[in-house]
Amino acid sequence: MRHIISKEKLLYGGDYNPEQWLDCPEILAEDIKMMRDAHINTVTMGVFSWSALEREEGKYDFGWLAERIDTLYQNGISTILATPSGAKPKWLADKYPEVLRTDPMGLRARYGFRHNHCMSSPVYREKIYEMDRRLSAAFGTHPGVIAWHINNEMQGACFCPLCQARFRIWLKDRYGSIDAVNRAWNTAFWSHTYNSFDQIEAPMANGELMLHGLTLDWMRFTTWQHKDFTQSEINAIRAGGSRLPVTMNMMYDFDGLDYKEFADQMDYVSWDNYPAWHKKPERVTAADTAFEHDFFRSLKRQPFLMMESCPSATNWQSVSMLKRPGMLEAQELQAIAHGADGSLYFQIRQSRGASEKFHGAVIDHYGGRDTRVFRECVKTGADLEKIKEVTGSRTVSPAAVIFDTVSRWAMEGSQGPRNAGLHYRETCKKAASALQAYGVNADIIPAAWDFAYGDPEEGPQFYRVLICPMLYMTDAAAEEKLRKFAAAGGTLILTYWTGIADQTDLCYIGGTPHGLMEAAGVRAEEIDALYDGMSNSGEAVPGQNILPARSYQCENLCELERLSAGTEAVLIYGSDFYQGKAALTVHKYGSGRVYLVAADFEQDLWTDLVRGALREQGVRPILGNGTRSARPDQRDVSSSRKVSLPEEVFVTSRRSGNAVYLFLQNFGRETVRFPFPEEAEVLLGTGGEIEPFGTVVLKISLH
Ligand code: GAL
Repeated sequence: MRHIISKEKLLYGGDYNPEQWLDCPEILAEDIKMMRDAHINTVTMGVFSWSALEREEGKYDFGWLAERIDTLYQNGISTILATPSGAKPKWLADKYPEVLRTDPMGLRARYGFRHNHCMSSPVYREKIYEMDRRLSAAFGTHPGVIAWHINNEMQGACFCPLCQARFRIWLKDRYGSIDAVNRAWNTAFWSHTYNSFDQIEAPMANGELMLHGLTLDWMRFTTWQHKDFTQSEINAIRAGGSRLPVTMNMMYDFDGLDYKEFADQMDYVSWDNYPAWHKKPERVTAADTAFEHDFFRSLKRQPFLMMESCPSATNWQSVSMLKRPGMLEAQELQAIAHGADGSLYFQIRQSRGASEKFHGAVIDHYGGRDTRVFRECVKTGADLEKIKEVTGSRTVSPAAVIFDTVSRWAMEGSQGPRNAGLHYRETCKKAASALQAYGVNADIIPAAWDFAYGDPEEGPQFYRVLICPMLYMTDAAAEEKLRKFAAAGGTLILTYWTGIADQTDLCYIGGTPHGLMEAAGVRAEEIDALYDGMSNSGEAVPGQNILPARSYQCENLCELERLSAGTEAVLIYGSDFYQGKAALTVHKYGSGRVYLVAADFEQDLWTDLVRGALREQGVRPILGNGTRSARPDQRDVSSSRKVSLPEEVFVTSRRSGNAVYLFLQNFGRETVRFPFPEEAEVLLGTGGEIEPFGTVVLKISLH
C-alpha cells in the first residue's frame, strides 16, 4: 500500500526541542513567529524527551507537549511525534541497570550518551510501551500530529546475557538443529564444532571473530532485534489508538543494519543527510548524496522524507565548514529532486548547552531574523511552496544499481582478496554516477528487490539496464532473477567477485560466478589483488562498438576470466602476465546481453559503458545528449536534446499524471547556460540558466 506523506505540501521544518526552553515562554512564542516567517510547516518533537515526559517513574507530564502541539497547529505547523526511546532517563538506568547496554567485551555501560539501551530488556520494553501507548492515546488523533517517528537513528548491539539468549532462540528458529548450524558455518574448521545451541556465543571482541557465518548471522540477528523492538513500539502506538503512519530516521551509508528489512514495517522511509559540503568539489559530494537519496527512495519505491539536514555547519564533523551561500537550498532541493516529499532540518533552535550547542540551526544563539542562515531558510521555504505541486509525484527509473547490505557484510568480513579495501560502495557509486552522467533517474536496490515494479498508473515496468557490481553473496532466487532479466531482453552488467558465496558465506564449488556462468559466458579463474598505487589497464578491442577506442585504468582487483564460445572481449588487459586476456566481456543471452567488468576500473569506463548500454537499449536521457562537457565554451548549442550538459549539472525527473517535473541542479560555482525544452513551464528559477548552486524546476505537460 502506498502511504501519503502529505497531500498538498512538501514538508519543511525540522527537529524542535521546546523541552529545553520551557522556562522561556518568550522564546517559545518567538520560535513560532520565526517558523512562520520561514514557511516552516512541520516540526519533529519528542525525540529525546523522555525525562521531560516522565520525570519520575510513573509520573507522566504531557502538558507542555500538548500545549506546544496545539499552539503549533493553530499556527499552521504540524508535528511528527517521536517516541522517546532513543535516550533514557537517569532514574530508569539507576533503578534497572539491565536497560544499559553491554559492549563486545562483555562490559555493562554506565549511564550516559544516547542510542544505547538493551533491546532485549523486558523493563525497557515495558516502560517504553507504556510511554508510547500513552502518547498515542493523548496525541494520536490530534489533527496537528501527522506521523510517528520511532526512536532515533537506531544502531548498535548489546551483548548482555539476555541478548545472547535471544540470539540462540533466533538461530534455533532459523536452522532447526545444531548440525545444520555446524554445516552452515563450516565449524569443522579449527575444531569449532558446537554440540548444542547453548554453547553458541555472540561474536565478541575477546571471543570468536573468525567464524564468518556466525558474524553474518549476528548482524542479521541485530537487524531483527531492532525490527522486533521497533515493532513493540508500533504495537504500543496502535494500542493507544493511533493509525497514523510510522517512520524511522535512517543514516548515511550505515551498514550496521540491513535497512531493507524495515521497508515493510515503515509506512514511509526517512533518512538524515549530513554531507561535508565543500570538502571536495560540490558535484562529487552531490553525487555521493544522490546515491543515498536514490537508495532510500528505492527501499519502498515511494516518496521519502529527508528527516534531518543541517541548515549551517554541524559540530561533529572533523571540521565545521559553513555552507557557502546557496548550498543550503541546493541541499534541501536535492532531496526533492530525488523523490522526497519533504526536507527537514536538525534543528529549529540551537541548544544553549551540552554537546550540540554549536550545531547549526535555523535560529541561532543570537536569535534574530537578520542572519544569513535564517534568510536562506526563508528563501528555501518560499521556493518549496512554489513547487508544492510535485508532492506525491513518483520517480520512474529506467535503470538500477544493486547495492546489497548483507552481501557487503559477508564480502567485507570475509578475509581476502584485498583486506586493504574492496571498495564496494565506491564501485556501486561509479555505476550510479555513470547513470547520472548520462542523465537518467537511477534506483539503488537490494538484490532481493524485483527488477520489474508496478506503477499504479502505467502497469509494470522493467529496468532496461541493471548493474550488479560485486554481488559476492547470491542465492538461487537472485541468480534466477538476474538470468531471467537478461534473457527477457535487459542489459545486465556484472563484475568481478560475483557469485562467490552462499547465504551463510560458504564458498560455491564448481566455478563462479555461481548460477551466472552460462549467462555471462565466463568462468572466473583467478583474482589478482594489486597493492595500493599499482594499476593495470583495459585496452579497447578493435571492432567492438560499445566503447570509444581507448585505454582505461584499473586498480585494486583484476579477475582473470575463461571465456565460453560466443563471448567476446571488449577490453583486454594491457600489462602483466595476463596481458591480452579479457578485462570486459559481452555475451548475448536470450534476448538480452550480459557484460562482465573484470577489474576495478576508473569512472570513465563506467560512464562510457553505461552510456553505450543505455543507447543500445534505446533509453534517452531526460535532457541533453547523454554526454558531459567540462568546458563552458562547449555548452552553447541550439537545442536541449543536442546539448552536452556540463558535468556539474544534475538532472532528475518526477512524474504525476500527465505532468513530468524536471529538476536541474547546478553543483558548480559558475552560472551554466543552455537551452531548456521549449514546451517547459518554469516553476522555479529562470529559463535558460542555472546560477551556482541553483535549482531550476520545469514542468512538461504530456498530452
Ligand atoms: C543526527 C541525530 C540528531 C542530531 C544530529 C546532529 O545524527 O539524529 O539527533 O544529533 O545528528 O547532526
